[in-house]
Amino acid sequence: MQGPLGGGTGPGLSPVDRRTLLICIFILAIVWGQMNFTGDQVLRILAKDEKQLTLLRDLEGLKPQKVDFWRGPARPSLPVDMRVPFSELKDVKDYLKSHGLRYSVMIKDIQVLLDEERDAMAKSRRLERSSSSFSYSSYHTLDEIYNWMDNFVAEHSNLVSKIHIGNSFENRSILVLKFSTGGSNRQAVWIDTGIHSREWITHATGIWISNKIASSYAKDHLLKKILNAMDIFIDIITNPDGFAFTHSMNRLWRKNKSSQPGISCIGVDLNRNWRTGFGGNGSNKNPCSETYRGPAPESEPEVAAIVEFITNHGNFKALISIHSYSQMVMYPYGHSLEPVPNYYELFNLAKDAVKALNKVHGIQYTFGSISTTLYAASGITVDWAYDTGIKYAFSFELRDTGQYGFLLPASQIVPTAEETWMAIRTIMKHTMNHPY
Ligand SMILES: *[C@@H]1O[C@H](CO)[C@@H](O)[C@H](O)[C@H]1NC(C)=O
Ligand SMILES: *[C@@H]1O[C@H](CO)[C@@H](O)[C@H](O)[C@H]1NC(C)=O
Ligand SMILES: *[C@@H]1O[C@H](CO)[C@@H](O)[C@H](O)[C@H]1NC(C)=O
Ligand SMILES: *[C@@H]1O[C@H](CO)[C@@H](O)[C@H](O)[C@H]1NC(C)=O
Ligand SMILES: [Zn+2]
Repeated sequence: MQGPLGGGTGPGLSPVDRRTLLICIFILAIVWGQMNFTGDQVLRILAKDEKQLTLLRDLEGLKPQKVDFWRGPARPSLPVDMRVPFSELKDVKDYLKSHGLRYSVMIKDIQVLLDEERDAMAKSRRLERSSSSFSYSSYHTLDEIYNWMDNFVAEHSNLVSKIHIGNSFENRSILVLKFSTGGSNRQAVWIDTGIHSREWITHATGIWISNKIASSYAKDHLLKKILNAMDIFIDIITNPDGFAFTHSMNRLWRKNKSSQPGISCIGVDLNRNWRTGFGGNGSNKNPCSETYRGPAPESEPEVAAIVEFITNHGNFKALISIHSYSQMVMYPYGHSLEPVPNYYELFNLAKDAVKALNKVHGIQYTFGSISTTLYAASGITVDWAYDTGIKYAFSFELRDTGQYGFLLPASQIVPTAEETWMAIRTIMKHTMNHPY
């Protein structure tokens, strides 16, 4: 450990004081609800070279559970976004300055955005109650979404059904919407949103798209053709425990809620817990890391449930796993730089998807393989899907590029969903036209 961050504890606080303080904060959080992020900032750092990236990576070790990478150190051309709690700001800024790392403040006070988000939800909830209708342009809680699902399935029972594929660590139901016009064990497309619970725009997009499919399939000739050939499965709340926690306690929670005896840190990064490449570059064995891979592949019930479902089904041809943020469409691999056998096909399909997306609202996305576009990431959903035989495997990173990051205002839900839908539709069309 070097630099001003050495030692680990802040100025004037012994480890015991600090623990007491943390416990107090924790208890207050339980009593008063949501964790308070007043004064916390998101800093953007543009690293000049590999050495500066390493200095940034070291920060996670120097400040365990303090700095929270929203966009981790990847390559010099990609900015690094990092949430820093108010109490650590001075230390971290000193560290950056002393190493010649240039930074700017992307979000000046996270709590301001959280308060706006909460007010918007409360306002929308009042309107929904008075009009007895669901607003597709608002964020919702887990209960509200599960409630919507029941009504939605009842309303479109000719097309949509709800499948229970397993239970989470805290025993919440994992529910998947199935869109099918009949047939048995047809070819299928899988879409999941919200494996990282703080990426709220992804759940909201999954909901909007579900409604889009049900409400437009009679009119949309291409969609009708697709649904006459294939079934579509959408797992909206892939990580229900994490999602519930983002509402009740910590809006910025990423991982699941699993815990292990003797380890104080909670949660596994469900997008590092898959078998393919498990434990490789871009995953972490430290349970306190935000990219903690878990004790073993598929150790997490949320991942195991999907693996079991997709494997038993046996006829999935495309899989789209949706994240935020960064505006990217990517394909395997994440765990290796090796190009996959149908690299050119995936490259061209990603390009077409991005073009279709761009036409809707002019938003620019980048595309490419995960390891070359973003960074090495091992044990991820799409690598597993690809190696299990699903040739059209894609990972999306939705809006934005960092102005709001995970706190994208609800006013952007519908535009984001509209453009994402066109990209997904492009991939489904190609899948239908290129059977294998
Ligand atoms: C959060 O903390 C700030 C400063 O510590 C305080 O002014 C504010 O009232 C708190 N907000 C909530 C919702 O507790
Ligand atoms: C988990 O939930 C199911 C219902 O989904 C219930 O039948 C079961 O008893 C629960 N298990 C535990 C351990 O609470
Ligand atoms: C969450 O992570 C723990 C390990 O920390 C794991 O045991 C548990 O099964 C996971 N829960 C879910 C719902 O994935
Ligand atoms: C992990 O990264 C290191 C350094 O970049 C590289 O030498 C190694 O081959 C990588 N491992 C895998 C499994 O790709
Ligand atoms: Zn994610």
